[in-house]
Amino acid sequence: MSSGSGAGAAVIVDRVGKSFGQISALRELSLRVDPGEAVAIAGRSGSGKSTLLSLIGGLEQPDRGDVLIDGQPIWRKPHPAHARRELVGFIFQRHLLLGTLSARANVEVPLIGAGIHRAERRTRALGLLEEVGLAARADHLPHELSGGERQRVAIARALANRPRLLLADEPTGALDSHTSERVLDLLFRLRDSLGMTMIVVSYDQAVGARADRTVTLIDGRIQSADAPSSAPGEPRPSPPVSPSSPTTSRSAHAG
Ligand SMILES: Nc1ncnc2c1ncn2[C@@H]1O[C@H](COP(=O)(O)OP(=O)(O)OP(=O)(O)O)[C@@H](O)[C@H]1O
Ligand SMILES: [Mg+2]
Repeated sequence: MSSGSGAGAAVIVDRVGKSFGQISALRELSLRVDPGEAVAIAGRSGSGKSTLLSLIGGLEQPDRGDVLIDGQPIWRKPHPAHARRELVGFIFQRHLLLGTLSARANVEVPLIGAGIHRAERRTRALGLLEEVGLAARADHLPHELSGGERQRVAIARALANRPRLLLADEPTGALDSHTSERVLDLLFRLRDSLGMTMIVVSYDQAVGARADRTVTLIDGRIQSADAPSSAPGEPRPSPPVSPSSPTTSRSAHAG
């Protein structure tokens, strides 16, 4: 596979706009994430977090602006779907396991698309399930698993193609605090060992605490570093390191 280096992908979101009818989900939003960096995306419901993740992952096309992965504009390449498969792992806000497939078969799904042979798929899927603590559940169907277990299967699936960029939308949203902690341990441990870039949407303060930095969305824009926080009483994470995000001017672009 082409992603053998294991290094994380560099992500640049350049003045992206996205509307759904009358609703502006994202407005001139710019963000830069360095290889191997872990960024938490916070913000109220409806602020555009999932939309941003979908655009970065190439699942939706921006109306304006560009998304560049490793310097390549993803929508101007001839085969965005193909590039995405090799590069990006996606943990969705609702873990979409296929109900008729076992945990192991679910983890294998992205590998089928990547043309990996059956024995190798099986080995890799079992290894990943072991990694998320579910080796003993490999043959269970999703409805035979708890919510936290299903989420861990979804994580294993997202990691199956050894992505250089992991996009996770509320990976701990449906989990109790103990299980959340385990899932976060796993994600950040994998980030450390694989060096992948990670962008994690979450309300969970624990995610912000572990991420290298937190970016907060307000109405489709990034809250500037010195604006008042909407979460009083919380210790502020360190301010953004790179000047990637001012909401008002084109200078946001230089960064
Ligand atoms: N497919 C769609 N069609 C129409 N409107 C949409 C669509 N997807 C998102 N929106 C709207 O765009 C805005 C941003 O949605 P988005 O899902 O990105 O929010 P979010 O920050 O992820 O919210 P949550 O925390 O509730 O998941 C919302 O107003 C939403 O209603
Ligand atoms: Mg969302």
